[in-house]
Amino acid sequence: MDTQTCNLTPGTKHTAMIAQYFRSIPARTLLLCGLALTGAAPCVAMAQDAPGTAAGAPLHAFVRNGVRPPLVMPAPAVLQASGAAFALPQNLTLHWSSPPTPLLLRAAERLCTRLCILAGRPIVFTQTPPPPGGLVLTISTPKDTTFPSPVMHEGYMLDVTPTGITLNAKGYAGVLHGLTSLSQLVRQERDGPVLAQAHIEDAPRFAWRGLMLDTSRHFMPLPDLLRQLDAMEMVKLNVLHIHLSDGAAFRVESRVFPRLHTLGSHGQYYTQEQVQQLVREAADRGIRVVPEFDTPGHSYAMLLAYPRYAANTPLNTTDRAEINRAALDPTNPATLGFVNAVYAEMAGLFPDPVFHIGGDEVVAKQWAQSPHIAAYMKQHHIASVAALQADYTRHVAHALRLRGKTVMGWDEVQEADIPPDTIIESWRGPAHTAQATAAGHDTVISGPYYLDRLLPASAYYTTDPLDMRKDAAEEQAAAQTTGPNPPDTPPAPASSPAAKAEEAPPPPLTAAQKAHVLGAEAALWTEVVSPDMLDARIWPRAAALAERFWSVQEQCDVTTLYPRLAMMADRLDLLGLEAHASTQRLLERLAPGETEAAAVLLQAVSPVRNYAHNHEFLQIRHKQTATLQPLGAPADIASPDSFEAEAFNAEARAFVAGHTELRHVLENTLTRWAGNNSAFARAAAHNTGLTPALVASAQLADLAHAGLAALGTGRTPNWRENARTALLTAKKGIAASASIHVVTNTPQPEGDLIQRIVPGVELLLDQATP
Ligand code: ACM
Repeated sequence: MDTQTCNLTPGTKHTAMIAQYFRSIPARTLLLCGLALTGAAPCVAMAQDAPGTAAGAPLHAFVRNGVRPPLVMPAPAVLQASGAAFALPQNLTLHWSSPPTPLLLRAAERLCTRLCILAGRPIVFTQTPPPPGGLVLTISTPKDTTFPSPVMHEGYMLDVTPTGITLNAKGYAGVLHGLTSLSQLVRQERDGPVLAQAHIEDAPRFAWRGLMLDTSRHFMPLPDLLRQLDAMEMVKLNVLHIHLSDGAAFRVESRVFPRLHTLGSHGQYYTQEQVQQLVREAADRGIRVVPEFDTPGHSYAMLLAYPRYAANTPLNTTDRAEINRAALDPTNPATLGFVNAVYAEMAGLFPDPVFHIGGDEVVAKQWAQSPHIAAYMKQHHIASVAALQADYTRHVAHALRLRGKTVMGWDEVQEADIPPDTIIESWRGPAHTAQATAAGHDTVISGPYYLDRLLPASAYYTTDPLDMRKDAAEEQAAAQTTGPNPPDTPPAPASSPAAKAEEAPPPPLTAAQKAHVLGAEAALWTEVVSPDMLDARIWPRAAALAERFWSVQEQCDVTTLYPRLAMMADRLDLLGLEAHASTQRLLERLAPGETEAAAVLLQAVSPVRNYAHNHEFLQIRHKQTATLQPLGAPADIASPDSFEAEAFNAEARAFVAGHTELRHVLENTLTRWAGNNSAFARAAAHNTGLTPALVASAQLADLAHAGLAALGTGRTPNWRENARTALLTAKKGIAASASIHVVTNTPQPEGDLIQRIVPGVELLLDQATP
């Protein structure tokens, strides 16, 4: 076939993606269908006004000298663009400098699909000389023998001019990245889609730019995973670290030990064919799949299937807390044989050279209080539980090495002597990064990037992977959301001098240590994430992190992050993500026919942070009986980022800095929030699922009235006192989840919701005329 349009072979994932895309198109969106030159009927769509879009984000913040630069995200190393653009041609001729492999042809197909969707009309790709008005895209790349791999050649140079497009890549990954950047140069103008003229030279800062996804605590069906791969490609993330076994479930079909998936998965697992499909689709997008099967702790699901390998028998099946605790018995040779055989089978399914064995949070009591394990340790002069774990790690690492695998483990595995080529995933803080890199271990950093803490994008984004400050992300979140804590916030725990020394930030990494930092990962643990929440809990925050991991530090511009992220969020949804659509569906389930007031409210508030919304986590911390938490409540629908609130806060900042023309914008926004409460209360009266958010709705109205009064509208005699009270109440609610420590000891605001417009209202109040 030498022509191609954005129609694709029926049955491919892309058809599914486009079909899904159409299913998600709301009533207010215009659909166009047209015939393409190949005779098939491609469908193209032009989204006019998708629900839940980030409308109102302060795009002006991102316009320079009246010109909006093309949004290529992550920001390339060099992007030269004058603002000039030319009409996107109907025809694009692909010229490959050497014969393209099937993988490269499929990448071109994806580009074609995406250009059609972004353009809103068919575009024909040909490999023959261009017809009049057509354009040639010349692609050159050396051959990549093993792809994808830890040493992918990701650099590329892209030139886009009205006379032709050239993409010179260092390897296949560079081609994929160049094509992604090219698709991001499309934008709509009055007369149709245009392509921005640009010169890009680009390469990543870090080779490992991952997304860790926990499929054990909540199973994520394959289509949900495939959608993440598309989005990952769009932001140049290149490692899907998939957490496949934990206490909650073992998620892969095992033909050697079938009880693992029949008993250990509650019927929800990936077949081996599905795993192969995932790996194949990921490879097509330049994404490595690094599997994790967590042992010797977090092994409850494996032990449900094969209890004879448990450290403590019989397995405690009545206490839900045990799900996170049960550990293997590493002193039993049969256990080691079992784990080696499980790992051998699983390693065969995943071609990547890295295999993650977990190794985190082995509960010491599981071993120390087991009489036969304690006796074994004494007999073999094993001084500590950590040393016993190190023996275990060495054993399984050796067996995996014989299969060509490099072992990766969470940072606990380095607490004793382990093979020097073990890759450490640092999650408990910079001290562990310092320790791992000083010992010469290659290291991936995920500690500051736990998306399930539900911090806003900017908090993660402003934390550099090499930042050695403990809880830097937490500090950023506090500074952004609240300002100083109210006076009655519980103090941090009194630390012993030893604990204080441990908490002191380690010195900056040396050059040798930095050379061992492979990169970083965004991580999503899914205790309180169901499949229908997945996209909105990952995106667009992962797009911000993708930039943090790709672009050099100086290019990570937080001042333009939100408007850019708002555009990326819409772009990713346009290309197949379901973040907006699934959020809307959750609302439709809660309040059918009456979603509007809830949507207004939930776009201005966020869920409480730092695991405060993970009720089981809190129950276990308080030694209460752990219960299963139903999901789908307002706090599950609200986003950790409120683009509406960010826009309002930015406008309030601009207003007090002298942009008085923004008064009407601010008044309109505040009036909408102030008036929303009665509509919300009406909707909640017949949809009880909304009732947990009644207090948050009233608080939003109080804050909005405070802002309006500060602007001089609707003042009552005691308006200032009311405004201060509204602010203090909202700040107290926010402070209650300022850190994991605070969360444990502080009641949370009703409905687990916090207000996001506090900084803007406070600014208006501070500047108000008497
Ligand atoms: C972890 O969060 N337990 C690695």
